[in-house]
Amino acid sequence: MDHFLYRQGRLHAEDVAIAEIATTVGTPFYCYSSATLLRHFGLFEDALNWGPHLVCYAVKAASNVAILKLLADRGAGMDVVSGGEYARAKAAGVAGERIVFSGVGKTREEMRQALEGGIRQFNVESEPELVALSEVARALNLSAPITLRVNPDVDAMTHEKISTGRKEDKFGIPIGRAREIYVEAASLPGIEVVGIDVHIGSQVTDLEPYRQAYRKVAALTETLRADGHRIERLDLGGGLGIPYETSNQQPPLPSDYGVLVREELGHLGCEIEIEPGRLIAGNAGILVSRVIYLKHGEGRDFLILDGAMNDLTRPAMYGAWHDIVPVNEPTPGVERRPYDIVGPVCESGDTFAKAREMPPVGTGDLVAIRSAGAYGAVMASEYNSRPLVPEVLVQGDHFAVIRARPTLEEMISRDTVPEWL
Ligand code: LLP
Repeated sequence: MDHFLYRQGRLHAEDVAIAEIATTVGTPFYCYSSATLLRHFGLFEDALNWGPHLVCYAVKAASNVAILKLLADRGAGMDVVSGGEYARAKAAGVAGERIVFSGVGKTREEMRQALEGGIRQFNVESEPELVALSEVARALNLSAPITLRVNPDVDAMTHEKISTGRKEDKFGIPIGRAREIYVEAASLPGIEVVGIDVHIGSQVTDLEPYRQAYRKVAALTETLRADGHRIERLDLGGGLGIPYETSNQQPPLPSDYGVLVREELGHLGCEIEIEPGRLIAGNAGILVSRVIYLKHGEGRDFLILDGAMNDLTRPAMYGAWHDIVPVNEPTPGVERRPYDIVGPVCESGDTFAKAREMPPVGTGDLVAIRSAGAYGAVMASEYNSRPLVPEVLVQGDHFAVIRARPTLEEMISRDTVPEWL
């Protein structure tokens, strides 16, 4: 459930009319609903409240500092994958002790940054990374709390590009080698083993792969404990999917997921950490765009929007479906028409939807591309020298621009022409 609903014929974010924001901010823009973000975060809190836990929001999904602060103020920890995300979490006021650092290629500089600034744990993904972290921690005279991310060789049955828990994926250490690498970890100075980490993929819409992976983690926990390791924390990753095509998708709920976690891992007495991103932010954000032209093509109508693939890459990159709705509520029963909904970028891949059945829309109308809160603004680029889309946060009856649209001068002034030209 989200808080983007029609009221008196106009799409609202909570109590604010989208058209009103468009008038102030211009289009395209991303619009997030605070109530929706908090509602989704709360679902995970409730799902895990049977035991000690920390919900670490995956910053990569939507990393605006205002969003991080909103969630952190409600008690969220953060999952970061770069020095940049770490700095954002810190800028949002998150204590280092509530930040976990994931990712397959952490640099020594990033390790130093996190060790000095405070860190809950590093989720280490390889032996060379373990050795590097040990050296960095020793040089700083600090100790690095770690889990090892194990690759359970489970197929999350999701899109090829976002599946991470099969043995051919680049992530984690093979679970079959975990015992020996834990021995190595325990022997390294500056390294303190605290638990196990696993993350099988994103937009996972079936709980069964989670069950398989967590069963393997439970068995590994017992084995490692018998070997004498301190396994007190299990980081279970993120990945729970959301309905993109709201009319016919009903992925499992966080509460179902919480029950599964308890069934498979509850008996171990570990603190549970999870790293959800998409489920918290995805349906809490929309991309609002204006139709520049309705163009009649050969046997098809093109809706040419002022938003494009550089603003929201998911359709071009993964062939992803996003619901697209008019901001003015369609008359009930009005006949739908197929449109190819495209952006102005000079590539045919700049297509949000093909032959999408929509109520009639025309030049100048506003449309909302739904489920764009996660992996939307964060994946945007300035391709075609289009300014990064601004972000707006709504709370109740007010809204604020949480990232302004850069001016063309600001964009261009980042380039420097060498004196010898
Ligand atoms: N933890 C780790 C280690 C991850 O790699 C990810 C996502 C998450 C947590 C959060 O997963 P979530 O709950 O958001 O599914 N750009 C793609 C998604 C990439 C996901 C990468 N890792 C997309 O637009 O679908």
